Amino acid sequence: MSEITNEIKKRRTFAIISHPDAGKTTLTEKFLLYGGAINQAGSVKGKATAKHAVSDWMEIEKERGISVTSSVLQFNYGGYCINILDTPGHQDFSEDTYRTLMAADSAVMVIDASKGVEAQTRKLFKVCVMRHIPIFTFINKMDREARDTFELLDEIEKELGIATCPINWPIGSGKAFKGVYDRAQKEVELFSDTNKGTTTGEVRKIDSNNPELDWILGTEAKIALEDEIELLDGASAEFDQEMVNRGELSPVFFGSALTNFGVETFLQHFLKMTSSPLPRMSDHGEIDPMTEPDFSAFVFKIQANMNKAHRDRIAFMRICSGKFEAGMSVYHVQGGKDVRLSQPQQMMASERKMVEQAYGGDIIGIFDPGIFSIGDTLTTSKEKFAYEGIPTFAPEHFARVRQVDTMKRKQFVKGINQIAQEGAIQIFQEYNTGMEEIIVGVVGVLQFDVLKYRLKNEYNVEIRLENLPYEHIRWIENEEINMDKLVGTSDMKKIKDLKDRPLLLFVHEWSIRMTMDRNKDLILSEFGRS
Ligand code: G4P
Repeated sequence: MSEITNEIKKRRTFAIISHPDAGKTTLTEKFLLYGGAINQAGSVKGKATAKHAVSDWMEIEKERGISVTSSVLQFNYGGYCINILDTPGHQDFSEDTYRTLMAADSAVMVIDASKGVEAQTRKLFKVCVMRHIPIFTFINKMDREARDTFELLDEIEKELGIATCPINWPIGSGKAFKGVYDRAQKEVELFSDTNKGTTTGEVRKIDSNNPELDWILGTEAKIALEDEIELLDGASAEFDQEMVNRGELSPVFFGSALTNFGVETFLQHFLKMTSSPLPRMSDHGEIDPMTEPDFSAFVFKIQANMNKAHRDRIAFMRICSGKFEAGMSVYHVQGGKDVRLSQPQQMMASERKMVEQAYGGDIIGIFDPGIFSIGDTLTTSKEKFAYEGIPTFAPEHFARVRQVDTMKRKQFVKGINQIAQEGAIQIFQEYNTGMEEIIVGVVGVLQFDVLKYRLKNEYNVEIRLENLPYEHIRWIENEEINMDKLVGTSDMKKIKDLKDRPLLLFVHEWSIRMTMDRNKDLILSEFGRS
């Protein structure tokens, strides 16, 4: 095996998705602890502290104490090289959060055991389903009072439309939490709450036939466990690796990230159940990292304003095949030119460091003089193939942009177009009204502030935003349809994007169905083509 395929085989690249506060940061910290990438829990993001993992460069981040962009953390564990893609949550939720999932090979869904499936998980989950990537579930906070386990699994299955297969099973919760039962090994891993922030300490496992278990768990809990396992064995889906690979069956684990319980068990199973980077589709067919020796990558995120004075940008790319070496020259397929990849960076837990080499599966950030767009391909292959584009995700907040000083039209148009090109916002125009007014759509409301801030600071243009009531957008797949004859609802608005493609905005979700009923030949899509 060549050095390159050997390195790629070790790679596992995944994203963690969750609703804010479910425990994503805590779980990530614990993963890093096992890899020795950081030696103290709390240094990943520390919401309450002033420490910001990676991107403390942007004023708006400093002012608000949040991280606007997602980052990547890399660590080694058990012979694997693991890349965790962070998907920003809270109010900094943006289109980047979705795009990050395009760069991941699998996803870990963290669910709060007392809350179940929450809104943000649902949204991110949809993107995973679209990509058919494996989805693993970690049900967290078992040290707190949890909802009934069967009910939680039922909710995941119904709400997200995926079958579940518990790999282990919790014994009680909250004060009565005793540990988890490993279904394959038929042994109990006993809960202990002594090793906060460390990886040391004994993990006690005890065979389910060991009579000691009766008094450790208590007769009542032991009987309850036996009953539940019997019920589970009869009712739940059997583990099927193929289904996991297709994203149709989610292996489920229980634990408590805060007390570091169940985290290593989860990590070990996860690494066995996932694969190294798989082939990706291009316009020349599938590119397999195991057989394609040349370097190839696609840009999934562009981060602007690293250095305000120069309007620098960093293009984040996911390497799909081959080996990257600092300073190498590659072909930028969309630009039709060779470019030198200089100032390569990799995001680490607490610092940004320069990388000399990286392999398929890794994520690197490259200095971008303004030539890259989201979805672009770079390669050293003679084939000059282009990877499939990244879809445009549906914004949920819309506003009309008004310029305060109309004399600065040129700067305004330039600024807003550049920011849209980076993918921070989407811009639209009224359909056929002849008005030049711009409508901005964003995935997370914070992007409105980012837009205002950046236009003012980088382009010296002040804007006012007038919020619009629309929450749902649909791309019209059959663009040839006669827009003027379209029979919509009273809360519907026709708009077009910069490429003159027609779209529809709705205030209410039910209006979408009604509009489709009224226009039988209309084909609507939740994702747009970039
Ligand atoms: P997020 O990244 O998904 O938003 O969640 P984060 O890890 O920041 O966790 C949210 C809160 O939940 C934190 O408490 C964290 O300590 C707590 N938490 C995470 N995992 C567990 C768990 O397994 N059990 C229990 N009981 N709590 C857990 P906080 O008070 O909001 O923040 P902090 O002041 O502790 O940082």
